[in-house]
Amino acid sequence: MPDTDLLALQVDHVGILQQRYEQALSDHNFDSLLISSGAAPVRYADDQSWHFQGYGPFLHWTGLAGFEHAWLLIRKGRKPLLTLHQPVDFWHANLELEPEPWLDALELRYSESTTAPELDDCSRLAVIGDPALLDTLPGEHNPAELCAALDETRVHKTAYEIACLAHANERALAGHRAAREAFLAGASEFDINLAYQRATRQREADAPYPSIIGLNEHAGTLHYQYYDTAAPAHPRSLLIDAGVRYRGYCSDITRTTAGTGEGRFASLVLGLEKLQRRLCDMVAPGVEYVEIHRKTHLGIATLLSASGLVSDLSAEDMVSAGITRAFFPHGIGHFLGVQVHDVAGKPVPPPADAPFLRLMRTLEPGMVVTIEPGLYFIPSLLEPLLAGPLGQHIDRSLLGELQGCGGIRIEDNVVVTRNGNRNLTREAEI
Ligand code: GLY
Ligand code: MN
Ligand code: MN
Repeated sequence: MPDTDLLALQVDHVGILQQRYEQALSDHNFDSLLISSGAAPVRYADDQSWHFQGYGPFLHWTGLAGFEHAWLLIRKGRKPLLTLHQPVDFWHANLELEPEPWLDALELRYSESTTAPELDDCSRLAVIGDPALLDTLPGEHNPAELCAALDETRVHKTAYEIACLAHANERALAGHRAAREAFLAGASEFDINLAYQRATRQREADAPYPSIIGLNEHAGTLHYQYYDTAAPAHPRSLLIDAGVRYRGYCSDITRTTAGTGEGRFASLVLGLEKLQRRLCDMVAPGVEYVEIHRKTHLGIATLLSASGLVSDLSAEDMVSAGITRAFFPHGIGHFLGVQVHDVAGKPVPPPADAPFLRLMRTLEPGMVVTIEPGLYFIPSLLEPLLAGPLGQHIDRSLLGELQGCGGIRIEDNVVVTRNGNRNLTREAEI
């Protein structure tokens, strides 16, 4: 059982959500809200289902990622009603709830049926969740403006949520340490994944996202999704981007390790790490997140010059000519919470110079973001550059040497505090 402080914070969390939800409901002319946890669809022409992970608003309230066909009914001035599906079934087990204090703030019922609870006394009802499960229900389904307001209730994390995110970081770092040791001992991607799962006590399907574990060139595929069962003859680099889900909350951490004898790559990793720490230090209230993204490009340009990969161009020219985009094609990060790419990040679309940026907001206390600069050697992005007039500025032989290391990404999870920031990943690393 978690410590009593966390359990007390969870009771406060439920109270805060009751207030936030009641406000959102009344702002949008609703009195009651039914949230479906969801259910895993059966695969086409098969009798097997996809692995289930619950719907965001349901997780926001309950943290229960594995409960299918559960329902949460929110009504003004009344305890939330949580209905859990518990069939009599000799094929599958039913998940059990720990008797924790937050459950006293709710009314809890069990149902053998998958259908929603009685809604007779619900006026002005909204129902949210996977539309495939809502067909027969009354009320307004997934009203867009209410859904946007509910997403907004997830932007400023409660103290309970931050404690869960901190714990998810601690747990994931145990996995990252094990993964690094396995790599340095010569393990394959498959075996590094097993080491990560063993250390985190988490089966992969329950992780917030499929772990990205790339050796050598594979480190240059941003979301590399396979695991070679054999180790390469010359292990040159490991990029592992992997998290843990704790009570519904996700960590999202990336580390890159240079193999033995990879001096040039190791110094680039060190350079990117220094840049990444400076970018984390920028996290503070009032900062435009897109400005951290833009600073990243200037930092990458400086690193490209210092390493000799690009010469005779200023940092600003490298950015404006698109050279840094070829080495760092993704955004600097995103919101983090019960979803790894948490909601409400883009009240406005990203600008043309940052098309993949997932977060376009001014930072405020309580927000939790990732900071994840990368520097990759991706043939499909570099080849057009090398073939054009900018190719003369790029050291092809050095690039050729480094290409087999794939790339680097370093990613931490950072809370915006009242005066600056709290880096949940670094504090757990010590
Ligand atoms: N792990 C996916 C991401 O970093 O956004
Ligand atoms: Mn990641
Ligand atoms: Mn991320």
